Order: sequence, then C-alpha cells, then structure tokens
Amino acid sequence: MIKQFSTNFTWGTATSSYQIEGAHCKDGKGLTIWDVFSKTQGKVANGDTGDIACDHYHLYKEDVALMAKLGVKNYRFSISWARIMPNGYGKVNEKGIAFYSDLIDTLLAHGITPWVTLYHWDLPLALQMEYDGWLNPKIADFFAEYARVCFEAFGDRVNHWITINEAWVIAILGYGQGVFAPGRISTSEPYLAGHHILLAHAKAVDIYRKAFAHQKGKIGITNNCDWREPLTDKVEDQQAAERALLFFLGWFADPIYLGDYPQVMKDRLGDRLPSFTIEEKKLLYKSSDFFGLNHYTTLYASDIPEGTPIEEISVYGNGGISEDQYVQLTADKKWSKTSMGWAVVPWGLQKLLEWIHHRYDAPDIVITENGCAYDDTINEAGDCLDKQRIFYVESYLNACHTAMQNGVQLKGYFLWSLFDNFEWASGYEKRFGMVHVNFETLKRTPKASAYWYAQVMNQNGILTSDK
Ligand code: GAL
Repeated sequence: MIKQFSTNFTWGTATSSYQIEGAHCKDGKGLTIWDVFSKTQGKVANGDTGDIACDHYHLYKEDVALMAKLGVKNYRFSISWARIMPNGYGKVNEKGIAFYSDLIDTLLAHGITPWVTLYHWDLPLALQMEYDGWLNPKIADFFAEYARVCFEAFGDRVNHWITINEAWVIAILGYGQGVFAPGRISTSEPYLAGHHILLAHAKAVDIYRKAFAHQKGKIGITNNCDWREPLTDKVEDQQAAERALLFFLGWFADPIYLGDYPQVMKDRLGDRLPSFTIEEKKLLYKSSDFFGLNHYTTLYASDIPEGTPIEEISVYGNGGISEDQYVQLTADKKWSKTSMGWAVVPWGLQKLLEWIHHRYDAPDIVITENGCAYDDTINEAGDCLDKQRIFYVESYLNACHTAMQNGVQLKGYFLWSLFDNFEWASGYEKRFGMVHVNFETLKRTPKASAYWYAQVMNQNGILTSDK
C-alpha cells in the first residue's frame, strides 16, 4: 500500500549556486568568499574548487530537461549575489539577471516551480574585504537591497522565496570554527554574525511584504537542525538536549516565532549575544510564511558539569564554543553512517518535526533539505545503484509521514541534492546527488534513487510493505 502524503504536498529537489554553477568569473560575476576560501591551502579536500563544479551555468537547459524527465515539479536553487551585484552593492550586472531569468523561464516552460534562495553562503568578496561580511550591521541593508533587485527582476515569475540558508552554518562554521568561508575562528563573532543574518532576513521580508505584496508570493528563512536525544532520562540530560536544540535552532527560530532569543542563550552568553531593539523585534516577529528546515542527522546529548575543562569534552565538531552549552554529543555505535559520518536515525526527524510543531505553535513546515552522501559509483552497465540512498530517504519519509499523522503541518520535502556537487570543505569527494556527475566529463547519470524518487513524487507517497 501507499503511505499517502497530504494533497498539494510540495515535492522537489535542491541545489545551490556555488555548488553547481561553475563559471565563477564569467559574464561580469564578482568573486565571492568561497572563490577565495576554496583556493586557500588546506581548506577544501583535494584542493577542489567550485570554478567549474557541474558547469550548470552552461548546461542549465539540459539540466532542466533532465529534471522534467525525472518528474521533478519543484526545484530549489540559489542565486549568487555576486552575479547580480558583483560587489554586493551598487551596480547591477544585467548578464547575471539574464542568466537567472532564463533559468526561471526554462523551469516554468517545463512545468517546474522555482523555489529561490537568495543567500546560500557565496557572499560577494567585496563585502567581506570592505565591511567584514556578516560582522557589520550594514550588511542587513546591503542584503535587503539585493533582495529588492531580485524581487523586481524575478518576482513576476517566482512565488517562493527563501532569504537565507542555514544561519547556524554561516555563523558557527564560518565565524566560530573557521572550517567554512570566511574561515574566522572566534567565540563571540558567531553571535554577532547570526544577529545580522536575522536582521538581514527581516529587512528583506519587510521589503517583500510592503513593496511586492501584489506578487502574492511566500517568503521564509531556512534553518538547519539535527535532533538531540537525551542520552538518559535524567533531568540533567533532558535539559542538556533541550539546551542544545535551543542553541542550534531556537537561536534563529525563537526571534521569528516567539519574539526574542532563547533565555538560556541570554543567560549563558551574556554580552556576547547582541540584543534586539523593540523595532527590530517587531520586524522579526512572524517574518516567515513557512518554517524552512534542513535536517540530516541525530546525536545523543548529555550534560557536562559546568567548569569541566574544554579539552576533556569530546564534542562532535563543536570546537571552542561548546562550553557555552556544556553538552556532550555522542552517537550510538549501532547506528549506520553515511559517508559524511552522519548517523542514519529517521526517528530523529520525526521528533524534531514534533518539537517544532509544539514550540512554535504548529507552523507550516517545509523540509528544504534532507538527504545523504554515499560513495556512489557507476557500474559496468553504466548504472548507479545507490540502494543506501533509497533506504535513507524512504526511512526519513516514513518518519515525516508519522509526524504528519501526529498533527505536524508538513507541507513539502526537497531532496538534497539533484546533483553530486561541490560539497564545501569536502570538495567533490562526497556525493549527495540523485543524479551522478562525472567531474571529468560532466556527464550526468540518474541514479536508481532518482527513478525511485520520481515514483514517490508521482504517487504522492511512499510504497510500504505494511497492510
Ligand atoms: C547543508 C547545505 C547544503 C549541503 C548539505 C549537505 O548544510 O545547505 O549546501 O552541502 O548541507 O552537507
């Protein structure tokens, strides 16, 4: 039988500009922080860069035709700010506008609805060099102005906007741990960057709602969160898991849905957490028409007594900022892992969806990314039989279905990713695509999961063996 999803459920697949486009300095595009970061020695596996990536900039017509063949009805992609405004402010690059305009027209001609992300990490380099990127409050206005240019140029055809992808990653990995561009390491800058990201989002939404209401679109922000399961049922561990979720997702969702940062962050961060003015709070409150969520994995959380020296804490990649939370993160050895080393724990997604549902008063949720990387290869017959990806996505969709039966207002699901692509610090080593890309020849080969997912989208649900 088929586990049916709700009527009008949005099925799609997702990518981002730097990860697939290539043509990094073509047709007037300005450089971005990722153009520079990827060329900084030791930052990206094998010294890979996004200079060519999937060369989607040149192959987009074929790519859209392939999507249509695979039954894709909704496509989430991002606009590279520096293609539209090479310096991030000031002059608009008409060739950049023309590229996205034609991409959008091509999608619509194939019956595919565009979901457009305005910022997926490729900040124009000039904004970093001249203004320190997200550390400068002025960036909120620069971003809002860029957003306005996009609404004006594409809003007649685009009705689904995502302002910013994964504020947590930008702030923590880019300004805390330095493993993503711009590569800064600090225990306070993440909170300043995060603050300006939220304000940039709010200002862009304000412009959209005031000046572009006639376009009748929807606009929101996408945040990422893994699930944190208490390691034991001790109160301390339950509080630790909750604290970890608030430092992860509450940081960015609370100001939008509840009006301010979580109290636990204020208490623990003191001056390092900026505060909002009353006006800013108003601007942020209810500034998302849907709850965009990216989710990949789960870890157990347990309490660490405050004062424990940080060197003694083995935390999964939380680096120098983990003392703010005093949460120990661990994986169950029995969990299988993807090639990113991320545990496959579908029930974590169900619990996270239900947590969001209860904390934020049942918002419409759209999963804007979920997926997995495996070492997929093409066999002699020319096929890529990625059974593990089918297993992963099927089990996560099952978890979504259960959450919906429990009342969660889940409205859409986008598989990450359409293509194998430039996986940030992992370069081309990690393959997330439902379509295999040979990075020597650029040949695209749909994997078994692409045909399987085509069926899911087509029948609006997953086949199960249950009666
Ligand atoms: C997300 C990100 C994507 C993709 C994915 C897999 O955090 O938005 O760009 O890289 O993770 O790691």
